Amino acid sequence: MIVCLCHRISDRDIREAVRTGTRDFETLQDETCIARNCGCCEDCAVETFDEALAKHAASTSIAAVTNLPAAPVPAAPRRPVISLVPV
Ligand code: FES
Repeated sequence: MIVCLCHRISDRDIREAVRTGTRDFETLQDETCIARNCGCCEDCAVETFDEALAKHAASTSIAAVTNLPAAPVPAAPRRPVISLVPV
């Protein structure tokens, strides 16, 4: 979806900017000029940017959690050996 008609910036462009390191809306504006012409897109652009940041933060925190060292696995309880072969 095109968010900024004046500069042809899509929601995908905004998500890509976040994925590659853009962390504040002013920087996004410096990089793309989004919402700097008529300004009609500003609300949608900010909302899309905030959503992209939130999703990125969630995905990176999940990645951080999954990179934690594994907790030690407790040893299985020892069970008596039962022989099925008649002696
Ligand atoms: S639509 Fe984005 S500045 Fe005009």
